[in-house]
Amino acid sequence: MTRLAFGLLYTASFISSAIAGSPPAVPQRAANPPLRGSPDLAGYDPSNIISDEDTTKVEYELAPGQSDDAKIGVFLNFDNIEHPQPIRGAKGGTDPGPRNDALSAMNSDLLAPPGTDHGQTISAKWPMALSHSKLGLDSAGWSRQQNTNVMPDAKLMAGVDMRLEPHAYRELHWHVASEWALMLNGSARIQAVDEDGQTFIDDVSKGDVWFFPAGVPHSIQGLEGGCEFMLVFDDGAFSEDNTFLASEVFAHNPKSVLSKNLEVPTSAFDNIPSGELFIFPGTPAPKDIEKQNITGSAGPIPKSKTYSYHWSEQEAHRVAGGSVKIVDPLTFPIAKDFSAALVSVKPGAMREIHWHPSSDEWTFFIAGKARATLFTPPNVATTYDYSAGDVAYFPQSNNHYIENVGDTDVIFLEVLQADHFSDISLGQWLGLTSPQIVKDTLKLSDETISKFPKEKPLIVAGSRETREKLAVQFVS
Ligand SMILES: *[C@@H]1O[C@H](CO)[C@@H](O)[C@H](O)[C@H]1NC(C)=O
Ligand SMILES: *[C@@H]1O[C@H](CO)[C@@H](O)[C@H](O)[C@H]1NC(C)=O
Repeated sequence: MTRLAFGLLYTASFISSAIAGSPPAVPQRAANPPLRGSPDLAGYDPSNIISDEDTTKVEYELAPGQSDDAKIGVFLNFDNIEHPQPIRGAKGGTDPGPRNDALSAMNSDLLAPPGTDHGQTISAKWPMALSHSKLGLDSAGWSRQQNTNVMPDAKLMAGVDMRLEPHAYRELHWHVASEWALMLNGSARIQAVDEDGQTFIDDVSKGDVWFFPAGVPHSIQGLEGGCEFMLVFDDGAFSEDNTFLASEVFAHNPKSVLSKNLEVPTSAFDNIPSGELFIFPGTPAPKDIEKQNITGSAGPIPKSKTYSYHWSEQEAHRVAGGSVKIVDPLTFPIAKDFSAALVSVKPGAMREIHWHPSSDEWTFFIAGKARATLFTPPNVATTYDYSAGDVAYFPQSNNHYIENVGDTDVIFLEVLQADHFSDISLGQWLGLTSPQIVKDTLKLSDETISKFPKEKPLIVAGSRETREKLAVQFVS
């Protein structure tokens, strides 16, 4: 019944009861059923209406490789597949819905896992695009974070992605965790004062790294072109909402105490901010850094303990499928537990199957499209798909690979909590083990075993052509 019809009914019943001399009855709301249904609907009744019409039929097409033996497990490209389905080889079935085709297309290995996947590992993927943005004051920038709230098993490290518009500040502050950072774009001026009164100031650009030890107060200011950077903290539960901000420290100490402490009248604090600034606009930093270089009797922090490393100026080590460069305490000693690799993998190539014997790995994808299978003993394996902007997390000694499944280079940052960067290569391990032992164990031919590498490949070559040929070969 329409609202209009209901209105007419109400009016009619009002008029008729008024004529009869009795008070108007509450009209029967036939048009609007009550919130709950009849108790009679519970359980079997011969009058129940059951349709046996086939309404769940799904129109779909399979991606190249999707009908292959599921254990081959090639990457399924759902980019141009209209309704991707949870089917792999002879396993699975159609999904009539509800479903989110756009998300499924981005996560083909979750929708249609390789037949070698089994069970469920920790959640090893968090897209920063699903993080809540914290917006800075007056269009000065923003930040967003990944921590144990969204990735409960990523306990050793957390990440914060931050943007500072030209001249904007990340406010003077400190925190309980130590902070390691990679500049993703633009340039910034960073400064700090340590516990001995030694001072630090430097300018960093895209590709450079900094480190601020736990408790050391510091600030960051975007230079002429602004900047974006990725901060990594040595505590998975770190939150950017819980740092010690200069504004809050001043707002939450009695003005009489501030006055006594800094030996100025209380009126000196008349205009201090009433709450946090966090990210806010600033006056342009002078081009000449010397103008902001303040030193006390302890002098500047010496080079051996400095807080920046100009990683952008280090040339990457080239290998068949891409390139790798490492910065760890062997060359950047102050960052004592941060060991990182910046890896570039060509289309079709793959960061080899490996594991890190001394630490969990926190990874951030800077460019491209990739996938990784995380293996956890005794027999759990889950394959995840990653794009630029996603965080990955692989627990200590859990083996994994990172395969480029796109058409452009995959670039990612691996960060460990370790005194030097190290990994163990599956290929090299077997290449340096007696062939007899390998043959007895894995039932591989002598010819296959003879091809195993004695040197760590780091990244194995591959090409888009091979990948497509592989897919086609099993389709036809
Ligand atoms: C840095 O910013 C510029 C300007 O927006 C952009 O063109 C460039 O692709 C950015 N890139 C990266 C990843 O360095
Ligand atoms: C700051 O001044 C000190 C000398 O007091 C000097 O050693 C240091 O290199 C200067 N730093 C910069 C960034 O200019």
